[in-house]
Amino acid sequence: MINWPLTSFSISSFGKVKLAIIGGDKVHPGTWPSWPVWDQSAEKDIIEMLRSGRWWRGNGEYVAEFEKKYAELMGAKRCLATASGTTALITAMGVLGVDGGDEVLVSPYTFIATYNAIFFHKALPVFVDTDPETFLIDTNKIKARITDRSVAILPVHIYGLPVDMDGVNQVAKKHDLKVVEDACQAWLAEYKGKKTGTLGDLGCFSFQNSKHLPAGEGGAILGNDDEIIDRCHSAHNCGRPYGSMKASPGYPYRGGNFRMQQSQAIILMSQMKRIEKDNDIRLANALYLDKKLKEIPGIVPYKLANGATRSVYHLYPFRYIKEEFNNVPKEKFIRALVAEGVPCSGGYGPQNKDGLIEEALNSKAYKRLFSESRLNKWREENHLPGNDQLCKEAVTFYQSMLLGSRSDMDDIVNAITKIYENRNSLVGIP
Ligand SMILES: Cc1ncc(COP(=O)(O)O)c(C=O)c1O
Repeated sequence: MINWPLTSFSISSFGKVKLAIIGGDKVHPGTWPSWPVWDQSAEKDIIEMLRSGRWWRGNGEYVAEFEKKYAELMGAKRCLATASGTTALITAMGVLGVDGGDEVLVSPYTFIATYNAIFFHKALPVFVDTDPETFLIDTNKIKARITDRSVAILPVHIYGLPVDMDGVNQVAKKHDLKVVEDACQAWLAEYKGKKTGTLGDLGCFSFQNSKHLPAGEGGAILGNDDEIIDRCHSAHNCGRPYGSMKASPGYPYRGGNFRMQQSQAIILMSQMKRIEKDNDIRLANALYLDKKLKEIPGIVPYKLANGATRSVYHLYPFRYIKEEFNNVPKEKFIRALVAEGVPCSGGYGPQNKDGLIEEALNSKAYKRLFSESRLNKWREENHLPGNDQLCKEAVTFYQSMLLGSRSDMDDIVNAITKIYENRNSLVGIP
């Protein structure tokens, strides 16, 4: 933990100050740390690799080296690098048997790629409501959504907040379901001291540009079963034989080209040098924000799920209770906060009602694979009050802001306090 100088603030010190959204001075006129941060020491390897022509994993060493290092860092037996988090999810689910006409139990509060990976297999995403306090799948509600078509659970450690994995694994074991963790936002988060992404059958990660471990694009699957990871390797490489996946004859398995490139692996290995230190800074700042923000009426920081021992804050989330702010809508609160120089956003919307769902359900394949009565029942059950509430209340700060100084964190707290104190002056503005 870092010992920052502590700055105290008084909740009433902003009582007579003009909000920046109506022409007052900003609380934070400066900048925030930018992301990603380039590591010049990686340039030698990149140039050498580019000049050598060993650009793809087939004749290069870097992707395999990254896989070994990432597995070690995460405490997993094996790692397979992929082109992206989406292709990691697609590969993992396919290898664990998710197929056309199956159902996958999944958290609705996530990036849309989670849903798309299920649709890719022509399976039905069955949404389990979100616990608005934790931002995560409510594990007590999984059982009620299981049908004879359910084959897997896809819990999402959204924002780097660990899901209660004992809760997930117990239901999975009882009902013979596979577990694929969507850890695409959760590198080095911990549940009961173990890393997220190592707690189910397979765990998937994203290394897209905004991520804590960025490479422009990239992904990985972690697992402890050699045969399953060999199968993933085969699946992500056009179905070519690999390890225990012997030629049968020729290609033993259906697959795609979901391979990582050498340049991605070099960037990732250089970024790996900083991730643990960065996560410590994010954690220290997030814990500070937790303590300070909960003192402000109407601001409710996330609650860690049972068993979660470390979050990594891909975004720092809290809930905004507008009733405490004179019913000022969330969107206006966000605009006021941005005007104070504190970037933030409103989190995910109720994507379980997004257009792509009906587009999929009305497609030729889904009509063939699912009965009309099943699809209609799915529509009737697609009511998620916990998720709807969270979508209305969530506000998030970007991970790179948590790499700022303690005085930056005080500016966040002070800006929200200022808005709270002056909430009445927001009522009249459009
Ligand atoms: C929760 C979640 N799942 C899946 C993905 C997909 O990862 P990628 O963008 O690398 O395909 C992302 C990426 O943002 C994500 O945040």
